[in-house]
Amino acid sequence: MVAVVTGGNRGIGLEICRQLASSGVTVVLTARDAERGAEAASTLGLPNVVFHQLDVGDPSSAARLAGFIEEKFGRLDILVNNAAITGTTSNVDDPEAFRQELAGMDLMQRIEAINKHNTEPYEQAQKCLRTNYHGTKAVTKALLPLLQSSSHGRIVNLSSSYGLLRFFSGDELKEELSSIDGLSEQRLDELSELFLKDFKDGQLEAREGGPMKEGSSRTRRPRRSRTPIPGSLRRSTRRCASTVCILATSRRT
Ligand SMILES: NC(=O)c1ccc[n+]([C@@H]2O[C@H](COP(=O)([O-])OP(=O)(O)OC[C@H]3O[C@@H](n4cnc5c(N)ncnc54)[C@H](OP(=O)(O)O)[C@@H]3O)[C@@H](O)[C@H]2O)c1
Repeated sequence: MVAVVTGGNRGIGLEICRQLASSGVTVVLTARDAERGAEAASTLGLPNVVFHQLDVGDPSSAARLAGFIEEKFGRLDILVNNAAITGTTSNVDDPEAFRQELAGMDLMQRIEAINKHNTEPYEQAQKCLRTNYHGTKAVTKALLPLLQSSSHGRIVNLSSSYGLLRFFSGDELKEELSSIDGLSEQRLDELSELFLKDFKDGQLEAREGGPMKEGSSRTRRPRRSRTPIPGSLRRSTRRCASTVCILATSRRT
């Protein structure tokens, strides 16, 4: 099988590349920065990992990747949409120490701690939608014909707790976003534009148009995670990557 992993040069993406390649899949590790990507691929030291540049926000780079896959493999079996940015600006002095601190917390504590150190400028929200939504969509569209040439053709999208609809205000919006059959690409584009407009006009809360801030009276407290992870960030990265690999390689029933 042949897989593409976006944002494969570090974090969960790199671990997904390692686990997929270790299970025999040929992995195209992609990264927006050619030097960082090539270095990450060689760090893995696995013969079935190849590097190709991909900036998910640049449609021409997605087209070049599709051309490379077509020529080298003629099809694609797995696409892992992992690349993403947070859309916030953090004022944490020591990111590594903060990550360790977070690893021992449950979901709600983590969100509270992160929100304390984060600001959300409009430009970042714009960049976030451009990368995480429009970029992911453009890469998927560019690679879709190759996935359709495979009998396995599988797409795994990574998301985040921050994307959970239970953190969204506005029952109407939640209902619309939950309706998989009712949603169209055009409507999603419209909603993302509306979100940015409301953000810019300071109307998000009034229009109940997006994710809520922790502390809002309507934020429902999620259940505590059963086992707070005791400082083991690496283990949680491995576990997350392993879930992705199972979803990517399991046979259809
Ligand atoms: N960490 C968590 O606790 C957690 C939890 C749940 C879900 N997730 C999801 O898991 C995924 C990976 O998370 P992570 O913690 O490993 O993130 P990370 O360490 O911040 O890595 C993000 C990766 O995405 C790449 N990237 C960003 N913008 C890009 C672009 N325009 N084109 C191509 N690559 C781009 C980054 O490349 P550069 O090195 O060039 O910046 C990096 O390789 C994300 O989708 C995230 O939402 C993470």
